[in-house]
Amino acid sequence: MSSSAAAVSEFSNPNLEPLFSSEQIQARVSEMGAEIARDYAGQRPLLVGVLKGAYIFLSDLVRATDLRLGVEFMAISSYGAAMRSSGEVRIVKDLDVPVDGRDILIVEDIVDTGLTLSFLIGSLHQRGARTVRLAALLDKFERREREVRIDYCGFQIPDAFVVGYGLDFDERYRNLPYIAVIKDPSLKD
Ligand code: IMP
Repeated sequence: MSSSAAAVSEFSNPNLEPLFSSEQIQARVSEMGAEIARDYAGQRPLLVGVLKGAYIFLSDLVRATDLRLGVEFMAISSYGAAMRSSGEVRIVKDLDVPVDGRDILIVEDIVDTGLTLSFLIGSLHQRGARTVRLAALLDKFERREREVRIDYCGFQIPDAFVVGYGLDFDERYRNLPYIAVIKDPSLKD
């Protein structure tokens, strides 16, 4: 394959300030998986990944969790800013299986205001899940509007927009192997 464009590295883009390295993430995810395996010993939890942001975290977390478990996905879309403050979110892709009587572990990339998660946790309880817990890689606690209990938390982070390891900025940067803060969100290239 030939290209006349100069090679530009996406992974070392100067608009990115590294926050957690790939090694730091792997070490923390391994600890979380071990803790989950201990807590759910003898149970068969259903892990529910929230698309799209959680897909890389979920794929590493399940490989660190030595348990008999199931994996499902949901996709949630928030309404516009005005609706968002009311906590209204919409299920864009629903589960393919019933959850009544199941032990559910929601796997989310980041908890920000908490609106998405408080809706999702409520919805799974309403459908008759036996237990609903939450594993979130990142906790942007300063921005919380709804109280959400994070049972397994990777890292607490300051109020900044982060990307990488599944998290995007306008669908970009999900493929970064590490997590970074966007220095200037107005820069598109
Ligand atoms: P919440 O409902 O405000 O807690 O929003 C959670 C969702 O917002 C996450 O699942 C992400 O999709 C998105 N989000 C919040 N903060 C960030 C960020 O810093 N980077 C990328 N996505 C974010």
